Amino acid sequence: MKKKAAHAAGKGLRGRDFVSVDDCSAGEIRSIFALASAMKSDRNKYRKALQGKMMALIFEKPSLRTRTTFTVGIKQLGGDSLLLTPADISLGKRESVYDVAKNLERMVDGIMIRTFGHGICTSMADHASIPVINGLTDHEHPCQAMADFLTVMEYKKNLRKLKLAYVGDGNNVAHSLMLAAAKLGGTLFLGTPPGYRPETRVMERCLDLAGESGATIVWTADPAEAVRDADMVYTDTWASMGQEGEAEVRRRIFSPYQVNRALFSLAKRDALFMHCLPAHRGEEVTDEIIDSPNSVVFTQAENRLHAQKAIMFELLRD
Ligand code: CP
Ligand code: NVA
Repeated sequence: MKKKAAHAAGKGLRGRDFVSVDDCSAGEIRSIFALASAMKSDRNKYRKALQGKMMALIFEKPSLRTRTTFTVGIKQLGGDSLLLTPADISLGKRESVYDVAKNLERMVDGIMIRTFGHGICTSMADHASIPVINGLTDHEHPCQAMADFLTVMEYKKNLRKLKLAYVGDGNNVAHSLMLAAAKLGGTLFLGTPPGYRPETRVMERCLDLAGESGATIVWTADPAEAVRDADMVYTDTWASMGQEGEAEVRRRIFSPYQVNRALFSLAKRDALFMHCLPAHRGEEVTDEIIDSPNSVVFTQAENRLHAQKAIMFELLRD
């Protein structure tokens, strides 16, 4: 069955893509969390869950966490992976996205792709008959948001009662967090400079979703308003991969959004500090905060493994 038909027929996540958080319903996201938690507490039980399955991992940008957790995750499920870097396939130059998709669908069982333009990822998903997972594009980082909400729920139970805050750049990580919060029904304040707001169409989609879920999604230019009384404070790099040339300008614009003692002290005393990593210590966050007992950044990183194992299983299982 073709992917879109499987989706429409309500056949669960099997055979589908995970290109955006918006590819899953709130119920599907919750079932991924439940499976991820089960896999985290009993690794042995799932050691043959994807036996014989092969994932192609395409990386057009650097990675520590995504590469390691997909490679280790599929192995822990009894499958294997193959790394494809620009030096190997030179996507879009040596060969078109279409041709790469049409080759890989005959050789492997799933594709994870980290690339620049989101359209490259959606195009791979449209052309490949096998599941495609977004391992980060300029527009979204959905696997990160899954690991992040899994982490929040481990520490804070009732999501609906929480105020979550994201401060910094309205980027790929912010987009995926917004969509997840909008689906799951939490309150998320985004504090960004006016010129670096999340994209309007993502905000509009989140407001639509919030109408159904009861979520509250608020943008403000004021980092203090975003963080005040929050249960969680999240930040990310001010210059994402591909924006290195803007780093100096961005450092000046974003400095009021640094998560330091003064800003973090506005949040609740037991607020979590979160960051997708890699962190630029002394820029978006100070050592004092990222190394504090409130920081759960390495649990987030570990939860990439568990969340993605659950996603791969749901998409690739027979
Ligand atoms: N958070 C994250 O995706 O890390 P990597 O860039 O190291 O994969
Ligand atoms: N926004 C960052 C996330 C890195 C995991 C980037 O795209 O570089």
